[in-house]
Amino acid sequence: MPFVCSECGYRSVKWYGRCPNCGAWDSLVEEGPATEDDSSWIGEGLRAITEIDLAELKRVPTGLPEFDRLLGGGLVPGGVVLFGGEPGIGKSTLLLQLADSLSGRCGKVLYVSGEESEGQVKLRADRLGVKSADLFVLSEQALARVSAAIERLEPSVLIVDSIQTVRSSRAEGAAGSLRQLRAVSGELAQLAKSRGMATLLVGHITKEGAFAGPKTVEHLVDVAVYMEGSRAEDLRIVRSVKNRFGATNEVAVFRMTEDGLREVENPSGFFLDDLKGEPRPGTAVAPILEGTRPILVEIQALVSPTGGYGVPQRRATGLDVNRVLLLLAVIDKRLSINVSGADVYLSIAGGLEVRERGTDLGVIGAVVSSLRDRPIPKRTAIVGGVGLAGEVRPVKRLGERIREADKMGYERILVPASFKGRSPGKIDIVPVGSIERAIAELELD
Ligand code: TYD
Ligand code: MG
Repeated sequence: MPFVCSECGYRSVKWYGRCPNCGAWDSLVEEGPATEDDSSWIGEGLRAITEIDLAELKRVPTGLPEFDRLLGGGLVPGGVVLFGGEPGIGKSTLLLQLADSLSGRCGKVLYVSGEESEGQVKLRADRLGVKSADLFVLSEQALARVSAAIERLEPSVLIVDSIQTVRSSRAEGAAGSLRQLRAVSGELAQLAKSRGMATLLVGHITKEGAFAGPKTVEHLVDVAVYMEGSRAEDLRIVRSVKNRFGATNEVAVFRMTEDGLREVENPSGFFLDDLKGEPRPGTAVAPILEGTRPILVEIQALVSPTGGYGVPQRRATGLDVNRVLLLLAVIDKRLSINVSGADVYLSIAGGLEVRERGTDLGVIGAVVSSLRDRPIPKRTAIVGGVGLAGEVRPVKRLGERIREADKMGYERILVPASFKGRSPGKIDIVPVGSIERAIAELELD
């Protein structure tokens, strides 16, 4: 289609004075044909696949093992990483820490800030204890001057914070517009490839402008990662959604502290409130998957009779509330336990957001445990989805989840009856086909 809105990316065969999608005036531009002149090219780039040297894909460890794991082993020279996230989530903080760590091990690092003055960057650097002499800072918004600085410094790693604040003179539009985002990211990606310079591009996601944000340049980069987490809690998760050099859907877990982001090397330990103490009524432990990584989480339930004629309360933090309502209905119907007259509060310890079925059986265990005021037996984990008939349903990558529970010292795990494997270690595997069976195994009946 020949016209595209430079603000929101809306495409149309017809030109409009005002974009029908986002309402911006005079933003539709004609998409020109590619202007590459190919007639003189004689094909020097041709190579047999056997001649390609994989050493070219040499990775540079960043010094942050969690981040390296996310990238698939480190930064790739010439590779471009898009680092997205909402404002204030901690992108600049993590990238400054990365810059410091990288400059110690792979030469010069250039950190370009289009948002902050050198003084502001220095203030944050002091707070983080960043003081590498190989880390250079440039406060600049004109891409031409950024390129000139790169020519002069010849850094091994470039960080641009953020692509929304840098403007190319080769394209029209204001900094941050779709036209500019594409031009800036494209030019920087080319520069990265031609110099073998690893490049990290920060992209802000704003609630209103999500469509015009970093997502629209994902196709121009090799790796795209996004930082998420609630601002109230100190937990931060960086997730890879695209990776030409490794697996996607990997996650790295961090905690925001007074002096920067700290890696959480053992997320299972972090998300379990209390591993050693006596079990408490209303808590159940379930192995979930974050990306491809199994993590043990603690589900906490508080169930108490609704006073007087009040409307029963249902709250779920970190869990899908509609899923919870459905599970409560299943408890009511299949276990003949009356939860409809009780207030139910559920949460996941540690502030994680869980969006999968593997916690279903654990939620039921935690609710019944709280209602009966009896704890789930010590060192017992629970995993399984639950269907409307109260049957326990299979979950993805069960073997890895069982292994994680075993590794964390759990002695027993309730799993869907369809599981046919063997214990990976010392852990006892207890297959259950229905929630009635599960409640009996948990000694809650
Ligand atoms: P920042 O990295 O500036 O976010 P972004 O670049 O994604 O917009 O992080 C901002 C928040 O992080 C701010 O609220 C202060 C907090 N913070 C800490 O808690 N500890 C620290 O060491 C630093 C540098 C920031
Ligand atoms: Mg920032």
